[in-house]
Amino acid sequence: MSKTKEWEEIPTNEPDRQRYFINEDRKLLMLKEADLGRKLTFHVTTFGCQMNARDSEKLRGILEEIGYIPSESEDCDLVIYNTCTVRENADNRVYGRLGILHGYKKKNPGMKIAVCGCMIQEEHVVNRIRESYRFVDLLFGTHNVYQLAELLHESFMKEGMTIHVLDKAEKIVEDLPQVRTYPFKAGVNIMYGCNNFCSYCIVPYVRGRERSRTPQAILREIEKQVEDGVVEVMLLGQNVNSYGKGLENPISFAELLLEIDKIPGLERIRFMTSHPKDLSQELIDAIAKSKHVCHHIHLPLQSGSSRLLKDMNRHYDKEAYLDLVRRIREAIPDVALTTDIIVGYPGETDEDFEETMDVVKQVGFDSAFTFEYSRRSGTPAATRPDQVAQEVVTERFNRLLKQVQEDGRNRAKALEGQTRTVLVEEVNREDDSLVSGRMENNSVVHFKGTSDLIGKIVPVHLTSCKGFYYLGEIAN
Ligand code: 5AD
Ligand code: SF4
Repeated sequence: MSKTKEWEEIPTNEPDRQRYFINEDRKLLMLKEADLGRKLTFHVTTFGCQMNARDSEKLRGILEEIGYIPSESEDCDLVIYNTCTVRENADNRVYGRLGILHGYKKKNPGMKIAVCGCMIQEEHVVNRIRESYRFVDLLFGTHNVYQLAELLHESFMKEGMTIHVLDKAEKIVEDLPQVRTYPFKAGVNIMYGCNNFCSYCIVPYVRGRERSRTPQAILREIEKQVEDGVVEVMLLGQNVNSYGKGLENPISFAELLLEIDKIPGLERIRFMTSHPKDLSQELIDAIAKSKHVCHHIHLPLQSGSSRLLKDMNRHYDKEAYLDLVRRIREAIPDVALTTDIIVGYPGETDEDFEETMDVVKQVGFDSAFTFEYSRRSGTPAATRPDQVAQEVVTERFNRLLKQVQEDGRNRAKALEGQTRTVLVEEVNREDDSLVSGRMENNSVVHFKGTSDLIGKIVPVHLTSCKGFYYLGEIAN
C-alpha cells in the first residue's frame, strides 16, 4: 500500500477518525506486546473536579479499546496525568509527581508519559514542561481529549514531545468509547466551559466558552446508561443553570431536568454546579415537582460581602443569595445546601469576612468546601496590589472551617432516627460485614449488608450520626 493511499484512507469526520486511530494504535500495541511477551498497562490519574473525572473516563475508554490493560500503579507502560489548575497547590502537586514518574521511566524506557487537562491550556506550563520535564511524551489540553488515539499514534511515530493544545473547542465529539468508574452511577456532561469570568478564576481561560450538548444527545446517553444498569446520574457543567442558551433550539436547564426525570428506570438525578445568579424560580419549582431530582443543591457563595461579590464579578449580593436560599427552602423544605467559599480574596477586610461568617451562620450549610484564595496569573484578581497577608488568611480560614464543621454536624444530627433511602456503593473498606452508600443529600451511611446490595437503593434507618456519616440499619 502506498503512503498516499494510506493517507487517503484516514477519515476526516469524527468520531470515525478517532476509531481509525484506535485501530492503528491497536496494531502498534500488538507489535509491542509481541516484543515484550506481555500486555501493556496504563494508569490515568485525575486531579481536580468532576469534569476532569469524567474526561478521565473517556481517556480510559479509548485506552481500553486500544488494548491497554488498567494498572493500579503508576509504574506501568502509559501514565496520563489529567491536571487541574484552579488553585496553585494543584499545579505544584503535578510537578512533584512528574519527578516520581521519571524514576519509573528510567527503569522502563518504553514507558509513555502524557499530561493533559487544564494546566496544559496555559502557555507557561507547556514551556516549563518542555524545558524542564523532557521525559514527558505527550501534552494535550482540555479541548482535544477525544483525540487521544490520534495523538498517541503521533507520539509512537515520531521522536520528541508531541504537543497539541487547541485555544478553543472546535466541536463536541459524541459516541467515543468510555469506561465508567461505577456500574450504577454515572457523570454526564451537559455543557462545557464557562462564560462568567469570576475575577479570581482561571476556568474560563482553560475550559473555553460555554457549549451545551443537545438534549437529544444527553437523553440518549442517559437512556443507554440506564439500560446498562445506571440508577443515578450526575449532570455536569461549570454553570448548569445557563444550560441550553446557545443551542439552535434553546431549552432551559429546568426543562432538561424534567425530560430526564421521565426516563424509566432512572432513580436519582444530581447536578453541579449551580451559579446563584442563574438559579431561576422555574428551576426550584422543577426540582420540587420532579420525582427523581435529589434534594441537594450545591450553591457556591464565594463570599458573603456584597462589596467583594461585586468585585468578584458574581452578579449577586448578600441579600440576593439569602433570598434565594429562603425561596429554595420554602419550595423544598428538606433540601441539603452545600457551598464553596474563598477566604482572603484581595482586599478582604475584617468586615467583609464577618459578612461571610454571617451568611454561613444564617444559612447553616450541610457542608462547605473552603478555600484560601490562590493567585492565578492571567486573572484580574491576581494583579491586585491588596493581597491579604497569609497569617490573616489562616486565622480567618480556621474560624470559618470551625463554623462550617459545627453547622454540618448539627444538620447531620437532625436526621438521626429518620429512615432515608440509600444507594449502596460498596462493601465497607474497614469492616466487610458492612456496606456503605449515600443518601439523597450525599451523606454517607454504613450498615449491615452484603455485596449483592451494591447498586440498589434501599431504605435505611439512621440509628446514629457520627459527625459527618451515619451508622444505620436496613429498614424493611
Ligand atoms: N482561589 C481559591 N479558590 C478558587 N476557586 C476558584 N478559583 C479559585 C482561586 N483562585 C474555588 C471557587 C470555586 C471552586 C471550584 O474553586 O470557590 O467555586
Ligand atoms: Fe470559575 Fe466563576 Fe466559571 Fe465557576 S462560574 S468556573 S468560579 S468563572
